Amino acid sequence: MTKLAVIGSGYVGLSTGVGLCLLGHAVTCADIDPQKISILNSGESPIAEDGLNEGISQCLSANTLAFTTDVINAISEAEVVFLCLPTPQGDDGSADLSHIEAVSRQIGSHLQAGTVVVNKSTVPVGSSVVVAEWLGRTDVSVVSNPEFLRQGTALHDFLHPTRIVVGGDNEEAVDKVVSLYAAVDAPILRMNAASAEALKYAANSFLATKLTFINAIADICELVGADIFDVVGGLGLDPRIGDQFLNPGPGWGGSCFPKDTRALVKIAEGNGYDFALLRGVIQTNDEQYERIALKVVELCGGSVNGKTIASWGLTFKANTDDLRDSPAIAILSTLHSMGARIRAYDSAARGVEQYPWIERCESALDACDGADALAVLTEWPEFSSVSPQEVFKKLSHPAVVDGRNVLNPSNWKDVGFEYRGVGRA
Ligand code: UGA
Repeated sequence: MTKLAVIGSGYVGLSTGVGLCLLGHAVTCADIDPQKISILNSGESPIAEDGLNEGISQCLSANTLAFTTDVINAISEAEVVFLCLPTPQGDDGSADLSHIEAVSRQIGSHLQAGTVVVNKSTVPVGSSVVVAEWLGRTDVSVVSNPEFLRQGTALHDFLHPTRIVVGGDNEEAVDKVVSLYAAVDAPILRMNAASAEALKYAANSFLATKLTFINAIADICELVGADIFDVVGGLGLDPRIGDQFLNPGPGWGGSCFPKDTRALVKIAEGNGYDFALLRGVIQTNDEQYERIALKVVELCGGSVNGKTIASWGLTFKANTDDLRDSPAIAILSTLHSMGARIRAYDSAARGVEQYPWIERCESALDACDGADALAVLTEWPEFSSVSPQEVFKKLSHPAVVDGRNVLNPSNWKDVGFEYRGVGRA
């Protein structure tokens, strides 16, 4: 059992901390937010993540997990310290490392000799070297161990990863981090820190590119009378392409893809490479939000001014409570700026009050009450089982934009709806 500290108890930090604890280590998770720490100390997760509540209770009862706001105390006996801090998008598009800098400077002089500091946060290539400078210690090593966790299934992904990537120049430190994952069955990839940091950006940017590509093909399908489901079905059977991450939708969002793609463009630019392909992906994704908003406008007869739009879903994808960079918010905000009133239903979304122009409703049907059109913007499973007949009775005009292709078009058309999906008629 190795003594570990995890600094930052957000989606990545909590899943990492609880995951490491379930792998048999003694973990102290620290966070600057006292409210979050008190919820955690009461045995609950402050965020919606599958299995996290159970994991926290299990580890707290085994006495192998602790939560604190005292960062110095958390690291005082730790052999390995994981930095799981936010790296938001800075004003110029590059990653803002101020949280990592502040914590590194704060803990530097308090670390035990020989401690390994692990960068889990997504950080620009070269950050391991910079973090080492901020720590100001020659007897402490910095290792990059990027995460590939999907929100919603982060704990499962931590315990069952597709690969474990550990990058660093000090072999002993790399071995130490690798040894923490001894109980996990996954390929271990050792490399230098720059490669591990680049790999993380490459993975997210590739996935974003794949989605933008399929969204573009979906748009073309609409224009030429093709059906994206048939196209994707045939594409996915080619193992070089693969059948995952090919669901067309309202554009990608979330806490990672938007900032990571922009940061990679900046990293490339800073090194003299114009990543025109990725710039195009980002722009096309922004246009996709616009395209979905315009479908709603079209179904409302060319203007949404004074109209009421019902939205099913607010989170950036299903199975999360997270609104960060949600396509739904971008689309609804466009419609709102055109004069629409917005009524929305999402059973999980947290922090909706920061958008006072969204009227939050109690149910999917309630959101439709008197609305001029319905937009489905998050793929929550419950939406596909709502009866179109019931929705028909609620709306003042039977129009639906299925931005996630979760409804059965013929069922809705049979009831009398004007239906617009993504990539299909
Ligand atoms: C993403 C990556 O999938 C993780 O591997 C990575 O570790 C994580 O970012 C991170 O950097 O921390 P996440 O942001 O949780 O994970 O979300 P995804 O499930 O990848 O979805 C991203 C966006 O793409 C969402 O808006 C989602 O709705 C959209 N999407 C995804 C589609 O529109 N279609 C799909 O087929 C899949």
